[in-house]
Amino acid sequence: MDWRDIYKSRLTSADNAVKSVKSGDRVSVMHCAGEPHHIMEAMVKNKDQYENVEVTLMLPLGKAEYAQPGMEKHFRHVSQFVGGPSRGTIMAGHGDYIPCNFSQIPFQFDATLPIDAAIIMVSPPDAHGYCSLGVSVDYSKRASEVAPLVIAQINKYMPRCHGDCFVHVSEMTHIVEHDAPLIELKPPKITDVEKAIGEHCASLIKDGDCLQLGIGAIPDAVLLFLKNKKDLGIHTEMFSDGAVDLVEAGVITNKAKNFHKGQMLATFLMGTKKLYDFVNDNPTVQMYPVTYTNDPLISSKNDNLVSINSCLQVDLLGQVCSEMIGSMQYSAVGGQVDFVRGAYLSKGGRSIIATTSTAKGGTLSRIAPLLDTGSCVTTSRNEVEYVITEYGIAHLRYHTVRDRARALINIAHPNFRDELKEAFEKRFNAKF
Ligand code: COA
Repeated sequence: MDWRDIYKSRLTSADNAVKSVKSGDRVSVMHCAGEPHHIMEAMVKNKDQYENVEVTLMLPLGKAEYAQPGMEKHFRHVSQFVGGPSRGTIMAGHGDYIPCNFSQIPFQFDATLPIDAAIIMVSPPDAHGYCSLGVSVDYSKRASEVAPLVIAQINKYMPRCHGDCFVHVSEMTHIVEHDAPLIELKPPKITDVEKAIGEHCASLIKDGDCLQLGIGAIPDAVLLFLKNKKDLGIHTEMFSDGAVDLVEAGVITNKAKNFHKGQMLATFLMGTKKLYDFVNDNPTVQMYPVTYTNDPLISSKNDNLVSINSCLQVDLLGQVCSEMIGSMQYSAVGGQVDFVRGAYLSKGGRSIIATTSTAKGGTLSRIAPLLDTGSCVTTSRNEVEYVITEYGIAHLRYHTVRDRARALINIAHPNFRDELKEAFEKRFNAKF
Protein backbone atom coordinates (compact mmCIF):
# COMPACT_ATOMS: atom_id res chain seq x y z
CA MET A 1 0.00 0.00 0.00
CA ASP A 2 1.23 3.49 -0.81
CA TRP A 3 2.30 5.33 2.35
CA ARG A 4 -0.15 8.13 1.52
CA ASP A 5 -3.05 5.68 1.79
CA ILE A 6 -1.70 4.36 5.07
CA TYR A 7 -1.43 7.94 6.31
CA LYS A 8 -5.03 8.73 5.42
CA SER A 9 -6.36 5.52 6.94
CA ARG A 10 -4.62 6.18 10.28
CA LEU A 11 -5.44 9.86 10.55
CA THR A 12 -7.63 10.58 13.54
CA SER A 13 -8.29 13.07 16.34
CA ALA A 14 -6.28 13.18 19.55
CA ASP A 15 -9.39 12.28 21.58
CA ASN A 16 -9.91 9.19 19.46
CA ALA A 17 -6.23 8.17 19.42
CA VAL A 18 -5.88 8.22 23.21
CA LYS A 19 -8.80 5.78 23.57
CA SER A 20 -6.30 3.06 22.60
CA VAL A 21 -4.37 3.65 25.83
CA LYS A 22 -5.73 1.40 28.57
CA SER A 23 -5.70 1.57 32.36
CA GLY A 24 -2.47 0.16 33.76
CA ASP A 25 -0.51 0.80 30.54
CA ARG A 26 3.02 2.13 30.59
CA VAL A 27 3.38 4.96 28.09
CA SER A 28 6.67 6.45 26.92
CA VAL A 29 6.22 10.09 25.98
CA MET A 30 8.69 12.17 23.97
CA HIS A 31 10.16 14.96 26.09
CA CYS A 32 11.63 18.46 26.21
CA ALA A 33 10.86 20.61 23.19
CA GLY A 34 9.49 17.49 21.48
CA GLU A 35 6.73 16.81 24.00
CA PRO A 36 3.46 16.14 22.08
CA HIS A 37 1.38 18.52 24.20
CA HIS A 38 -1.72 18.21 22.05
CA ILE A 39 -1.95 14.47 22.70
CA MET A 40 -1.03 14.75 26.37
CA GLU A 41 -3.74 17.38 26.80
CA ALA A 42 -6.22 14.92 25.26
CA MET A 43 -5.09 12.25 27.74
CA VAL A 44 -5.61 14.63 30.65
CA LYS A 45 -8.99 15.75 29.29
CA ASN A 46 -10.07 12.11 29.01
CA LYS A 47 -8.49 11.12 32.32
CA ASP A 48 -11.64 9.37 33.56
CA GLN A 49 -10.98 6.68 30.95
CA TYR A 50 -7.86 5.64 32.84
CA GLU A 51 -6.62 4.38 36.15
CA ASN A 52 -2.97 4.11 36.92
CA VAL A 53 -1.43 4.84 33.53
CA GLU A 54 2.33 5.10 34.00
CA VAL A 55 3.68 8.10 32.09
CA THR A 56 7.41 7.81 31.56
CA LEU A 57 8.86 11.04 30.24
CA MET A 58 12.26 12.41 31.03
CA LEU A 59 12.04 16.20 31.16
CA PRO A 60 8.68 17.96 30.85
CA LEU A 61 8.93 21.58 29.70
CA GLY A 62 5.23 22.44 29.68
CA LYS A 63 2.65 22.24 32.44
CA ALA A 64 2.92 18.45 32.85
CA GLU A 65 -0.73 18.36 33.95
CA TYR A 66 -0.65 14.56 34.24
CA ALA A 67 1.88 15.01 37.04
CA GLN A 68 -0.06 17.57 39.04
CA PRO A 69 -2.03 17.03 42.27
CA GLY A 70 -5.46 15.51 41.60
CA MET A 71 -4.17 13.25 38.82
CA GLU A 72 -2.82 10.52 41.11
CA LYS A 73 -5.69 8.08 40.44
CA HIS A 74 -5.25 8.36 36.69
CA PHE A 75 -1.55 8.87 36.05
CA ARG A 76 1.68 8.00 37.73
CA HIS A 77 4.75 9.87 36.53
CA VAL A 78 7.93 7.79 36.40
CA SER A 79 11.03 9.48 35.14
CA GLN A 80 14.77 9.16 34.64
CA PHE A 81 15.18 12.90 35.20
CA VAL A 82 13.73 15.28 37.74
CA GLY A 83 12.93 18.80 36.68
CA GLY A 84 10.64 21.76 37.34
CA PRO A 85 7.06 20.56 36.84
CA SER A 86 7.66 16.94 37.87
CA ARG A 87 9.85 17.47 40.95
CA GLY A 88 6.92 18.02 43.33
CA THR A 89 5.09 14.87 42.16
CA ILE A 90 8.14 12.71 42.56
CA MET A 91 8.99 14.18 45.97
CA ALA A 92 5.39 13.64 47.11
CA GLY A 93 5.60 9.96 46.18
CA HIS A 94 2.93 10.19 43.46
CA GLY A 95 5.63 9.44 40.95
CA ASP A 96 9.06 7.90 41.05
CA TYR A 97 12.58 8.30 39.76
CA ILE A 98 14.83 5.76 38.01
CA PRO A 99 18.56 6.46 38.37
CA CYS A 100 20.19 5.67 35.03
CA ASN A 101 22.86 7.10 32.75
CA PHE A 102 21.11 8.69 29.77
CA SER A 103 22.91 6.39 27.31
CA GLN A 104 21.21 3.36 28.88
CA ILE A 105 17.63 4.62 29.14
CA PRO A 106 16.30 3.13 25.85
CA PHE A 107 17.58 -0.30 26.94
CA GLN A 108 15.04 -0.18 29.79
CA PHE A 109 12.27 -0.76 27.25
CA ASP A 110 13.79 -4.17 26.56
CA ALA A 111 14.42 -4.97 30.22
CA THR A 112 12.52 -3.80 33.29
CA LEU A 113 10.37 -1.16 31.59
CA PRO A 114 8.52 -2.74 28.64
CA ILE A 115 6.13 -0.15 27.21
CA ASP A 116 2.59 -0.48 25.92
CA ALA A 117 2.57 2.75 23.95
CA ALA A 118 4.85 5.46 22.58
CA ILE A 119 3.56 8.99 22.10
CA ILE A 120 5.74 11.02 19.78
CA MET A 121 5.75 14.28 17.83
CA VAL A 122 7.28 14.34 14.35
CA SER A 123 7.73 16.46 11.25
CA PRO A 124 5.32 15.95 8.33
CA PRO A 125 6.25 12.98 6.11
CA ASP A 126 8.77 13.46 3.30
CA ALA A 127 8.26 12.15 -0.23
CA HIS A 128 8.95 8.60 1.00
CA GLY A 129 6.69 8.68 4.06
CA TYR A 130 9.42 9.24 6.65
CA CYS A 131 8.86 11.67 9.53
CA SER A 132 11.70 13.09 11.60
CA LEU A 133 11.74 12.95 15.40
CA GLY A 134 13.48 16.30 15.07
CA VAL A 135 14.55 17.84 18.38
CA SER A 136 14.06 14.80 20.62
CA VAL A 137 15.43 11.52 19.33
CA ASP A 138 17.12 10.20 22.48
CA TYR A 139 14.81 7.44 23.81
CA SER A 140 11.83 8.09 21.52
CA LYS A 141 13.41 6.37 18.51
CA ARG A 142 13.65 3.10 20.43
CA ALA A 143 10.22 3.65 22.03
CA SER A 144 8.62 4.00 18.60
CA GLU A 145 10.36 0.80 17.45
CA VAL A 146 9.26 -1.40 20.36
CA ALA A 147 5.86 -0.07 21.42
CA PRO A 148 2.85 -2.05 20.16
CA LEU A 149 0.90 1.24 19.99
CA VAL A 150 2.45 4.38 18.47
CA ILE A 151 0.51 7.65 18.55
CA ALA A 152 2.19 10.36 16.48
CA GLN A 153 1.41 14.06 16.43
CA ILE A 154 2.41 15.48 13.05
CA ASN A 155 3.53 19.07 13.58
CA LYS A 156 4.78 21.26 10.73
CA TYR A 157 6.85 23.21 13.27
CA MET A 158 8.93 20.14 14.15
CA PRO A 159 12.25 20.57 12.31
CA ARG A 160 13.05 17.87 9.80
CA CYS A 161 16.38 16.90 11.30
CA HIS A 162 18.73 14.43 9.66
CA GLY A 163 20.47 11.40 11.15
CA ASP A 164 19.11 8.18 12.65
CA CYS A 165 15.88 9.87 13.62
CA PHE A 166 13.15 8.87 11.19
CA VAL A 167 9.90 7.00 11.80
CA HIS A 168 7.94 5.75 8.79
CA VAL A 169 4.21 6.44 8.58
CA SER A 170 3.60 2.67 8.44
CA GLU A 171 5.11 2.33 11.95
CA MET A 172 2.45 4.63 13.44
CA THR A 173 -0.85 3.26 14.77
CA HIS A 174 -2.65 6.61 14.98
CA ILE A 175 -1.71 9.84 13.25
CA VAL A 176 -2.92 13.16 14.67
CA GLU A 177 -2.28 16.37 12.77
CA HIS A 178 -1.75 19.37 15.01
CA ASP A 179 0.56 22.30 14.32
CA ALA A 180 1.96 24.26 17.24
CA PRO A 181 5.28 26.10 17.59
CA LEU A 182 7.79 24.27 19.78
CA ILE A 183 8.38 25.49 23.31
CA GLU A 184 11.26 27.95 23.34
CA LEU A 185 13.84 28.28 26.05
CA LYS A 186 15.34 31.75 26.05
CA PRO A 187 19.11 32.01 26.63
CA PRO A 188 19.82 32.61 30.34
CA LYS A 189 21.29 35.83 31.75
CA ILE A 190 25.01 35.37 32.29
CA THR A 191 26.46 36.95 35.44
CA ASP A 192 30.06 38.09 35.95
CA VAL A 193 30.65 35.02 38.11
CA GLU A 194 29.55 32.74 35.28
CA LYS A 195 31.67 34.74 32.83
CA ALA A 196 34.73 34.13 35.03
CA ILE A 197 33.94 30.40 35.06
CA GLY A 198 33.45 30.44 31.29
CA GLU A 199 36.82 32.09 30.80
CA HIS A 200 38.60 29.47 32.93
CA CYS A 201 36.88 26.65 31.01
CA ALA A 202 37.76 28.24 27.66
CA SER A 203 41.43 28.39 28.71
CA LEU A 204 41.44 24.56 28.61
CA ILE A 205 39.93 24.40 25.12
CA LYS A 206 42.24 24.24 22.11
CA ASP A 207 41.69 24.82 18.41
CA GLY A 208 40.21 21.70 16.83
CA ASP A 209 38.69 20.31 20.07
CA CYS A 210 35.36 18.50 19.98
CA LEU A 211 32.92 19.76 22.60
CA GLN A 212 30.10 18.42 24.73
CA LEU A 213 28.31 21.24 26.52
CA GLY A 214 25.08 21.15 28.48
CA ILE A 215 22.51 23.88 28.77
CA GLY A 216 22.41 26.89 31.06
CA ALA A 217 24.37 29.96 32.01
CA ILE A 218 27.74 28.22 32.49
CA PRO A 219 27.86 26.45 29.10
CA ASP A 220 26.66 29.68 27.45
CA ALA A 221 29.36 31.61 29.31
CA VAL A 222 31.98 29.16 27.99
CA LEU A 223 30.78 29.78 24.43
CA LEU A 224 31.30 33.53 24.91
CA PHE A 225 35.02 32.93 25.32
CA LEU A 226 35.48 30.66 22.33
CA LYS A 227 35.11 33.32 19.67
CA ASN A 228 38.81 33.31 18.83
CA LYS A 229 39.16 29.52 18.59
CA LYS A 230 39.37 27.67 15.30
CA ASP A 231 37.65 24.62 13.88
CA LEU A 232 35.84 23.45 16.98
CA GLY A 233 33.55 20.45 16.65
CA ILE A 234 30.42 19.26 18.45
CA HIS A 235 29.58 15.75 19.66
CA THR A 236 27.12 16.27 22.47
CA GLU A 237 23.93 15.24 24.15
CA MET A 238 22.23 18.56 23.37
CA PHE A 239 23.06 22.01 22.15
CA SER A 240 21.31 25.34 22.15
CA ASP A 241 21.37 28.78 20.50
CA GLY A 242 24.92 29.58 21.68
CA ALA A 243 26.36 26.85 19.46
CA VAL A 244 24.47 28.28 16.45
CA ASP A 245 26.13 31.67 17.07
CA LEU A 246 29.54 29.99 16.94
CA VAL A 247 28.69 28.16 13.71
CA GLU A 248 27.63 31.46 12.16
CA ALA A 249 30.86 33.07 13.41
CA GLY A 250 32.88 30.33 11.68
CA VAL A 251 34.29 28.98 14.97
CA ILE A 252 32.44 25.66 14.98
CA THR A 253 33.24 24.08 11.62
CA ASN A 254 33.55 20.40 12.65
CA LYS A 255 36.42 20.23 10.13
CA ALA A 256 38.99 18.97 12.62
CA LYS A 257 36.79 16.10 13.81
CA ASN A 258 38.19 12.66 13.11
CA PHE A 259 34.74 11.05 13.62
CA HIS A 260 31.60 12.34 11.86
CA LYS A 261 33.82 15.00 10.26
CA GLY A 262 31.86 18.05 9.17
CA GLN A 263 28.85 17.13 11.31
CA MET A 264 27.52 18.18 14.73
CA LEU A 265 25.98 15.27 16.62
CA ALA A 266 23.31 15.55 19.30
CA THR A 267 20.40 13.55 20.65
CA PHE A 268 18.08 16.40 21.71
CA LEU A 269 17.91 20.15 21.21
CA MET A 270 16.43 22.92 23.25
CA GLY A 271 16.49 26.65 22.52
CA THR A 272 14.64 29.29 20.54
CA LYS A 273 13.21 29.45 17.02
CA LYS A 274 16.67 30.45 15.86
CA LEU A 275 17.97 27.00 16.84
CA TYR A 276 14.96 25.16 15.41
CA ASP A 277 15.34 26.99 12.08
CA PHE A 278 19.06 26.24 12.01
CA VAL A 279 18.64 22.48 12.41
CA ASN A 280 15.75 22.18 9.94
CA ASP A 281 16.86 20.18 6.90
CA ASN A 282 20.48 20.88 7.79
CA PRO A 283 22.65 17.88 6.86
CA THR A 284 25.52 19.16 9.00
CA VAL A 285 23.39 18.48 12.09
CA GLN A 286 22.93 14.78 12.77
CA MET A 287 20.44 13.63 15.38
CA TYR A 288 21.02 10.16 16.79
CA PRO A 289 19.50 7.99 19.53
CA VAL A 290 21.11 8.56 22.93
CA THR A 291 22.45 4.98 22.89
CA TYR A 292 24.79 6.28 20.18
CA THR A 293 25.64 9.90 21.03
CA ASN A 294 26.18 9.24 24.73
CA ASP A 295 27.85 5.83 24.60
CA PRO A 296 31.37 6.55 25.88
CA LEU A 297 32.80 4.01 23.42
CA ILE A 298 31.22 6.02 20.58
CA SER A 299 31.84 9.59 21.79
CA SER A 300 35.45 8.74 22.62
CA LYS A 301 36.10 7.97 18.95
CA ASN A 302 36.40 11.76 18.74
CA ASP A 303 39.95 12.75 19.63
CA ASN A 304 40.22 15.75 21.96
CA LEU A 305 36.69 15.42 23.31
CA VAL A 306 36.09 18.04 26.01
CA SER A 307 33.04 17.62 28.23
CA ILE A 308 31.74 20.48 30.36
CA ASN A 309 29.02 19.86 32.92
CA SER A 310 27.83 21.37 36.16
CA CYS A 311 27.17 20.17 39.70
CA LEU A 312 25.58 21.02 43.02
CA GLN A 313 28.35 19.99 45.43
CA VAL A 314 31.91 18.62 45.46
CA ASP A 315 33.54 17.17 48.57
CA LEU A 316 37.22 17.35 49.44
CA LEU A 317 37.83 13.94 47.87
CA GLY A 318 36.56 15.30 44.54
CA GLN A 319 33.31 13.35 44.65
CA VAL A 320 30.78 15.26 42.58
CA CYS A 321 27.05 15.42 43.36
CA SER A 322 25.05 16.90 40.49
CA GLU A 323 21.60 15.65 41.25
CA MET A 324 20.61 15.75 44.93
CA ILE A 325 20.31 18.49 47.52
CA GLY A 326 20.54 16.49 50.73
CA SER A 327 17.98 13.74 50.37
CA MET A 328 15.94 15.63 47.74
CA GLN A 329 16.29 14.35 44.20
CA TYR A 330 16.69 17.79 42.59
CA SER A 331 17.88 16.78 39.13
CA ALA A 332 19.48 13.66 37.65
CA VAL A 333 22.66 12.26 36.21
CA GLY A 334 21.52 12.86 32.61
CA GLY A 335 24.51 12.41 30.34
CA GLN A 336 27.10 13.73 32.76
CA VAL A 337 28.81 10.42 33.53
CA ASP A 338 28.45 9.24 29.92
CA PHE A 339 30.49 12.20 28.75
CA VAL A 340 32.95 12.26 31.64
CA ARG A 341 33.75 8.69 30.59
CA GLY A 342 33.78 9.56 26.87
CA ALA A 343 36.26 12.38 27.50
CA TYR A 344 38.32 10.10 29.75
CA LEU A 345 38.61 7.51 26.96
CA SER A 346 39.14 10.03 24.15
CA LYS A 347 42.72 10.54 22.95
CA GLY A 348 43.58 14.03 24.20
CA GLY A 349 40.17 14.31 25.92
CA ARG A 350 39.40 16.37 29.02
CA SER A 351 36.39 16.50 31.33
CA ILE A 352 35.38 19.59 33.26
CA ILE A 353 32.89 20.04 36.09
CA ALA A 354 32.18 23.76 36.35
CA THR A 355 30.20 25.42 39.11
CA THR A 356 29.82 28.68 40.99
CA SER A 357 31.77 28.50 44.25
CA THR A 358 28.66 29.19 46.35
CA ALA A 359 24.93 28.48 46.33
CA LYS A 360 21.93 30.03 48.07
CA GLY A 361 22.94 33.60 47.48
CA GLY A 362 26.52 33.11 48.66
CA THR A 363 25.59 31.55 52.01
CA LEU A 364 26.76 28.04 51.19
CA SER A 365 30.04 26.72 49.76
CA ARG A 366 29.59 24.18 46.98
CA ILE A 367 32.99 22.79 47.89
CA ALA A 368 32.26 21.03 51.16
CA PRO A 369 34.20 18.82 53.59
CA LEU A 370 31.62 16.06 53.02
CA LEU A 371 28.70 15.59 50.66
CA ASP A 372 25.41 16.37 52.40
CA THR A 373 23.82 13.49 54.31
CA GLY A 374 21.35 11.71 52.04
CA SER A 375 22.86 12.89 48.77
CA CYS A 376 24.72 10.73 46.27
CA VAL A 377 27.84 10.66 44.14
CA THR A 378 27.16 11.42 40.48
CA THR A 379 30.71 11.59 39.09
CA SER A 380 33.08 9.53 41.20
CA ARG A 381 36.45 10.69 42.41
CA ASN A 382 38.02 8.02 40.21
CA GLU A 383 36.68 9.66 37.07
CA VAL A 384 36.62 13.38 37.84
CA GLU A 385 39.30 15.41 36.08
CA TYR A 386 38.97 19.23 36.30
CA VAL A 387 36.76 21.19 38.70
CA ILE A 388 36.37 24.87 37.90
CA THR A 389 34.83 27.77 39.83
CA GLU A 390 35.10 31.52 39.30
CA TYR A 391 38.27 31.33 41.44
CA GLY A 392 40.18 29.03 39.15
CA ILE A 393 40.90 25.50 37.99
CA ALA A 394 41.56 22.44 40.17
CA HIS A 395 43.12 19.51 38.35
CA LEU A 396 42.29 16.36 40.29
CA ARG A 397 43.10 13.40 38.10
CA TYR A 398 46.24 11.49 39.09
CA HIS A 399 46.72 13.64 42.21
CA THR A 400 46.78 12.38 45.79
CA VAL A 401 43.77 12.85 48.02
CA ARG A 402 45.54 15.61 49.96
CA ASP A 403 46.65 17.48 46.84
CA ARG A 404 43.14 17.24 45.41
CA ALA A 405 41.65 18.68 48.57
CA ARG A 406 44.22 21.53 48.57
CA ALA A 407 43.43 22.31 44.91
CA LEU A 408 39.71 22.36 45.63
CA ILE A 409 40.07 24.62 48.67
CA ASN A 410 42.13 27.03 46.57
CA ILE A 411 39.18 27.50 44.20
CA ALA A 412 36.55 27.70 46.98
CA HIS A 413 35.01 31.07 47.84
CA PRO A 414 37.45 32.96 50.13
CA ASN A 415 34.70 33.26 52.80
CA PHE A 416 34.76 29.50 53.28
CA ARG A 417 38.45 28.68 52.84
CA ASP A 418 39.36 28.88 56.55
CA GLU A 419 36.71 26.38 57.61
CA LEU A 420 37.63 24.11 54.70
CA LYS A 421 41.32 24.27 55.70
CA GLU A 422 40.35 23.31 59.25
CA ALA A 423 38.31 20.37 57.93
CA PHE A 424 41.29 19.40 55.73
CA GLU A 425 43.71 19.32 58.66
CA LYS A 426 41.35 17.21 60.80
CA ARG A 427 40.51 14.81 58.01
CA PHE A 428 43.91 14.29 56.43
CA ASN A 429 46.09 14.66 59.49
CA ALA A 430 48.28 17.09 57.58
CA LYS A 431 49.07 20.81 57.43
CA PHE A 432 47.25 22.67 54.65
N1 COA B 1 22.96 22.90 48.79
C1 COA B 1 21.76 23.55 48.82
N2 COA B 1 21.23 24.18 47.78
C2 COA B 1 21.93 24.19 46.65
C3 COA B 1 23.19 23.55 46.53
C4 COA B 1 23.70 22.87 47.65
N3 COA B 1 24.87 22.25 47.61
N4 COA B 1 23.66 23.72 45.28
C5 COA B 1 22.74 24.45 44.64
N5 COA B 1 21.72 24.73 45.46
C6 COA B 1 20.52 25.52 45.11
C7 COA B 1 20.92 26.79 44.40
O1 COA B 1 21.18 27.86 45.31
C8 COA B 1 19.69 27.06 43.55
O2 COA B 1 18.63 27.57 44.36
P1 COA B 1 18.29 29.14 44.32
O3 COA B 1 17.95 29.41 42.89
O4 COA B 1 17.16 29.22 45.26
O5 COA B 1 19.53 29.83 44.78
C9 COA B 1 19.23 25.64 43.17
O6 COA B 1 19.76 24.78 44.16
C10 COA B 1 19.73 25.21 41.79
O7 COA B 1 21.12 25.27 41.75
P2 COA B 1 21.91 25.77 40.46
O8 COA B 1 23.32 25.43 40.63
O9 COA B 1 21.55 27.17 40.15
O10 COA B 1 21.26 24.84 39.36
P3 COA B 1 21.47 24.85 37.80
O11 COA B 1 20.17 25.20 37.21
O12 COA B 1 22.67 25.63 37.39
O13 COA B 1 21.74 23.31 37.51
C11 COA B 1 22.65 21.17 37.96
C12 COA B 1 22.87 22.67 38.05
C13 COA B 1 23.87 20.48 38.50
C14 COA B 1 21.42 20.76 38.76
C15 COA B 1 22.44 20.80 36.45
O14 COA B 1 23.56 21.19 35.72
C16 COA B 1 22.21 19.32 36.28
O15 COA B 1 21.08 18.89 36.36
N6 COA B 1 23.28 18.51 36.05
C17 COA B 1 23.19 17.08 35.96
C18 COA B 1 22.86 16.60 34.58
C19 COA B 1 23.97 16.85 33.59
O16 COA B 1 25.07 17.19 33.92
N7 COA B 1 23.66 16.67 32.32
C20 COA B 1 24.66 16.81 31.32
C21 COA B 1 24.35 17.19 29.99
S1 COA B 1 22.98 18.25 29.60
